[in-house]
Amino acid sequence: MKKITIVGAGRVGESTAQILAKEELCRELVLLDVQDGVPQGVALDIQQSGSLLRFDTRVRGDTDPGAMAGSDLVIITAGYPRKPGMSRSDVLEANLGIIGGIVDQVLLHAPDAMLLMVTNPVDVLTWFCYQRTGWPRHRVFGQSGALDTARMTAFIALETGYSVKDISALVLGGHGDAMVPLPRFSDIAGIPLEHFLTDEQIEQIVERTRQGGGEILSLKKHSSAYDSPAAAIAAMVDAIGHNRKRILPCVSILDGEYGQQGIAMGVPAVLDESGLRRVIELQLTAEERQAFQASADMVRADIQRLP
Ligand code: 2OP
Repeated sequence: MKKITIVGAGRVGESTAQILAKEELCRELVLLDVQDGVPQGVALDIQQSGSLLRFDTRVRGDTDPGAMAGSDLVIITAGYPRKPGMSRSDVLEANLGIIGGIVDQVLLHAPDAMLLMVTNPVDVLTWFCYQRTGWPRHRVFGQSGALDTARMTAFIALETGYSVKDISALVLGGHGDAMVPLPRFSDIAGIPLEHFLTDEQIEQIVERTRQGGGEILSLKKHSSAYDSPAAAIAAMVDAIGHNRKRILPCVSILDGEYGQQGIAMGVPAVLDESGLRRVIELQLTAEERQAFQASADMVRADIQRLP
C-alpha cells in the first residue's frame, strides 16, 4: 500500500505505527490525533528510529483530518479505553460520537479507502461504520479475532512448553467475555490439543483467552493491552498489503453466514488486496453453535443501543 492513516495516536496507534513503519507496510504513514503536538511528536520519534531499524517509511503526524487524503487504508484506534471493572460495551456511548466524527472525515477525505476498526466495542463499532459509510462489506472490517487467537496460541504454548510457531488456534464471536475459543479447530503441529492437554487444562485456556484483555488491564490498571493488539493489526495489514490471502479471524459484516444477518462479529475471513475478500463458514457442533449464538446475542443487544 502507498499510504495508511492511523486515527488515534494513543498507545495502540503508536505501537501499530512502529510495526507498520518497521515492516515497511506502506510508503507513507500518517498518524492523526486531535491533541496538537501528540501525533507530530509520536511520528517524529518513530521516524528517527528509521536508520537504526532500517526502514524508509515516511511517518508524519497531524491534527488536520485532510492529511488522510489518498489513503489506501484507514485504521481507527481513537476513543476511550475501558477502565478496570468495565466491560468493552461500557464505552460504547462515549466512543460513538468520536467514531461518528472520524467516519465522516474518512468519507470526505479518503472515500476510496478500506476501513479497519479497532476501537471498542469493536464489533458494534464496525457495524456502525459499515452503516455510516454505506461501503461494501469487503472494505469495512475490524480487528479482534487475530488478537484473541494469538492470546489462545500463547496460552497453549505456555501450558505445553511447545513452540508458538507450531501452534494454530481459532477464536470466533464477539470481542467480549462471550467470545468462542474453539479447541476443536486448534492444534500443535497438526496434532489435536487433547494429545497434550487434559480437558481441564483446555477449559482453563479457553477461559483465560476469554478474559485475555481483562487480565492485562487488571494487572496494568491504567492501560489496556497495546503491544499484542498492534501486532494483530499489523498481521491484518500485512495480509492485505501483500495480497497474501491469509485466513485470519476478523470482525466481519455477516450476511447470512453462521445464520446471522445485520451484525458484525469475529469469524475466519480471507484477507487480500481487496480487503476482506470472503467469510469462511465452518460447520459448528450444536454446543459451538449455541456459544456463537450467545455471543451474537450480546453484540446484537449493543447494536440495538445505536441511535
Ligand atoms: C484487548 O482485548 C483492548 O480489547 C482490547 O486487549
